[in-house]
Amino acid sequence: MDKRIQNEELKKKICSAAEAAAFVTCGSTVGVSGFTSAGYPKLVPGALAERAEAGEDLRLTVISGASVGDELDGRLARSGAMARRYPYQSNKDLRAAINEGRIAYADIHLGQLPGLVKNGVLGPVDTAIIEASAILANGSIVPTMCVGSSDTLVQCARQVIVELNTAVPDLIGLHDIYTPLLPPDTKPIPIVKPSDRIGCASIPCDPEKICAIVLSETPDAGGPGTSPDEVTTRIAENLVAFLLAEQKAGRLSDPLPPLQSGVGGIGNAILSVLAGSGMKGLNLYSEVLQSAVLDMIDSGTVAFASGSALSFTPAYQQKFYEGFERYKKQIVLRPQEISNSAEVIRRLGVIAINTAIEADLSGNVNSTHIGGDRLMNGIGGSGDYARNAGLTIFVTPATAKNGELSCIVPSVSHVDHTEHDTDVIITEYGAADLRGKTAYERADLLIETCAAPAFRPQLRAYMERVKKECRFHHGIPVLK
Ligand code: COA
Repeated sequence: MDKRIQNEELKKKICSAAEAAAFVTCGSTVGVSGFTSAGYPKLVPGALAERAEAGEDLRLTVISGASVGDELDGRLARSGAMARRYPYQSNKDLRAAINEGRIAYADIHLGQLPGLVKNGVLGPVDTAIIEASAILANGSIVPTMCVGSSDTLVQCARQVIVELNTAVPDLIGLHDIYTPLLPPDTKPIPIVKPSDRIGCASIPCDPEKICAIVLSETPDAGGPGTSPDEVTTRIAENLVAFLLAEQKAGRLSDPLPPLQSGVGGIGNAILSVLAGSGMKGLNLYSEVLQSAVLDMIDSGTVAFASGSALSFTPAYQQKFYEGFERYKKQIVLRPQEISNSAEVIRRLGVIAINTAIEADLSGNVNSTHIGGDRLMNGIGGSGDYARNAGLTIFVTPATAKNGELSCIVPSVSHVDHTEHDTDVIITEYGAADLRGKTAYERADLLIETCAAPAFRPQLRAYMERVKKECRFHHGIPVLK
């Protein structure tokens, strides 16, 4: 424990989860660590849920880096403790509560969340609850498997509760904490390659601010596995073939510019196919690093990976902990304000690869809503990357719901990324490079290359009507 809590005074603040939760008052705003199922507090949220289950009207506003595990979002949503949530989620019970109007939710670009917290747009942060692997003598906090918004939440919160998790080794040396100032004092972020370290190893925190420390041994729930299915493998193969062709044509460098790969099964499949492509020395400048990254580092496919969270399966968490001294030379975790910074993404010419729910014949992409009015997860970091990347790619299976619905549609039911931000759309049938194409050319290409063959006749018929009925030869309207 001496190594994990290096400040003697702070050791006196060790208490139970229920005692720590007592510092959180009804109606307050709680900022939590966590980004995907990585690095979120697990015990204090449980104690808060128990208070709500016992009848207390907690009405908490919860701000995190991104989605978090079920012990936090699921428990607080089911118990009725949560009234409002920012900026992203992916929990089925929380999603249901949002869609039924029981919990308020605002969907926010992850890269912009810390700025909104710092300038007070979301109101004051009363308590930050942060999972840590160590607390240093000066009170600064060494995070666990993510940074997310923890630096900003600690800076802005009135008081801090630390969940010290000994299921995770002391991860000092993994993180690079750099918290930009607000305008007009903002400085250029001096990252010119993904491996640049520009900050410090722990989150600065006045020890006086730490009101409670809870000891935990609960591991992260963990991210998705590495074995892709047939459709996602074909999507990944089409993507890698496209990138290799661009490289051969001299439009992409060798090695490729840094890659960003989104969350979920397709993201992992892409990394697995890249690992088998023979490419070496790739760099990742991404938000979430999934399990396949460790295999790619081991094989030399990836030289360096920069992210904000390590969303690993339990088996890959162990692999990472055992090889930590080696992996920390090739992995860095940054605040999401840096991993998702428009400035850095644009400077590095990142290739952004994110998953769409549906894309339309103009190239507009829906990442967040089903049928226009049911929230799925949220925009996450997809907009931060899509708008600023050197090359913006969206991937999606051509159909959803066992082939009943086309994911290539005349008009998306909700727009997250406009046609102006979408360079390439890829399904299991092929890759449509929309760059430099007119509206009608884009539509024809998407139908013939990306749409499932069963839906092509309907989509062609739609475009025939557009071409016949519209007075101008540009733009694809919604026809009745
Ligand atoms: N119409 C109706 N439903 C659709 C659909 C469509 N066109 N496309 C997908 N769906 C449904 C699926 O059937 C599935 O439903 P289910 O939960 O009832 O099974 C659900 O949407 C999720 O689809 P799935 O294929 O399992 O998605 P995924 O795990 O690959 O995630 C996104 C896809 C888009 C939801 C996810 O990538 C996301 O949240 N993206 C936004 C944030 C982001 O891009 N972050 C990246 C930066 S790290």
